[in-house]
Amino acid sequence: QNSNSQTLLKMYADAAKLYSHILLKTENGSNALKYLRNRQLDDDLIQTFGIGYAPNNNKLLLQFFKDRDISEDILRKSGLFAQNQEGELFDRFRDRVMIPITDESGNIIAFSGRILDKEASTAKYLNSPETEIFNKGKTLFNLNNAKKEIREKGNVILFEGFMDVISAYKAGVTNGVASMGTSLTDQQLYVLSRLTNQINICYDGDDPGVEATYRALTQLTDERFTYGVISIPDKKDPDEFIKSEGFEKFQNLANSVQTPISFILNYFKRNYNLNNEHDQLEFLNQSLKEVVKLQSPVEVDMYVGKIADEMNVSKDAINKELDALRRQIS
Ligand code: CTP
Ligand code: MN
Ligand code: MN
Ligand code: MN
Ligand code: MN
Repeated sequence: QNSNSQTLLKMYADAAKLYSHILLKTENGSNALKYLRNRQLDDDLIQTFGIGYAPNNNKLLLQFFKDRDISEDILRKSGLFAQNQEGELFDRFRDRVMIPITDESGNIIAFSGRILDKEASTAKYLNSPETEIFNKGKTLFNLNNAKKEIREKGNVILFEGFMDVISAYKAGVTNGVASMGTSLTDQQLYVLSRLTNQINICYDGDDPGVEATYRALTQLTDERFTYGVISIPDKKDPDEFIKSEGFEKFQNLANSVQTPISFILNYFKRNYNLNNEHDQLEFLNQSLKEVVKLQSPVEVDMYVGKIADEMNVSKDAINKELDALRRQIS
C-alpha cells in the first residue's frame, strides 16, 4: 500500500475513535445514544461495531485533521469532506449515527451515516464516496467479523441493510453481511467464493424486499454457489422481526432456508387467485417454466407434488404438462 492509503486508513481510524467518543462520552452524543438504545443496541454491540456519532458541526473533523497537519490534498482525497461553492471543505457527515465500514482485515475504510429523525429531507443513509481505500464493489459490510462463521457454518447470509446485519449478530446469527446498497458484484462473489459455496438471501419481507429477492435469484447465476432464501414474515425486515419476535425465533427462521424454486413458486402465487381456473392455469404455466429448469429428478418430483397440491390436481396431469413443455423447448 502506498503512503496515501496508510494516511487515509489512519484518518478513518481516528475519525471513528472521535465519533465513538462523542457518542459514548459526551453530552453532544446523548440524543444519538438514546436513539441507538431505543433500537436495542447495547454498549457492547455499539463497541463491537465501532458505532459513533457525527455531531451537527461542519468543521469538527476538518479542524481535528488540520490540527494534525493533514495536507489539503489528502483532506480532499479522504472522502470525509464535501466542498461548498467557494471550494471550501466541510464535514460530510453531520448529525448522523456513524457506522464504520471495514475491509476484510477490519481496517475502517468508509462510513455509513444514518439520520436520527424520520422526517429529515435528506437520504436516510449517507455512504462515503469511493476513495483510494474504499471500493464499493469489493466491499461487504461485516465480512471481517463474519468470515470465521461463514467458513464454519458453510454459508453466508446476505442482508439488505446494515442494521439487519447488526441485529442478526446480536441475535447470534453471526454469518451475515450486506452489500453497499446494490446487488452483488462479481468482485463480491469472488471474495465470498473463497469462504463458502452457499449464499442465503435474507432481504426485507416488504414488497421491495421480495421483489429484490426475486431479481437476485434470477441474476445470481454464478455456478460456484447454491442459493437459498430466508423469508421474513409480516412484511418486516430482519431487524424489526428480531425486535418483535426475539432472538430464538429469528435463529429458527435463519435455519429454515427455502430453495430458490420454492420461493419463486410462492412469489408467483401471490399474483393469482387460485380459486379461479384461469388464474390456476396461468400459475401452472409460469411455475412449470421454472420447474423445467431444475436438474435433479427428485427436486422436480417434489415441486410437481407441491403444484399438484396447490391446484388440487393429480401429479400425473402436471407431469404430462411438464413433458409437453420439455418437448416444446427441445
Ligand atoms: N437506503 C438508503 N436510503 C434510503 C433508504 C434505503 O440509503 N432512504 C439503503 C440503505 O443502505 C439501507 C437499505 O437501502 O440499509 C435498505 O433500505 P431500508 O430497508 O429502507 O433501510 P433499513 O436498512 O431497514 O434501515 P433502518 O432500519 O435504519 O430504517
Ligand atoms: Mn428495505
Ligand atoms: Mn429494511
Ligand atoms: Mn430496518
Ligand atoms: Mn390473465
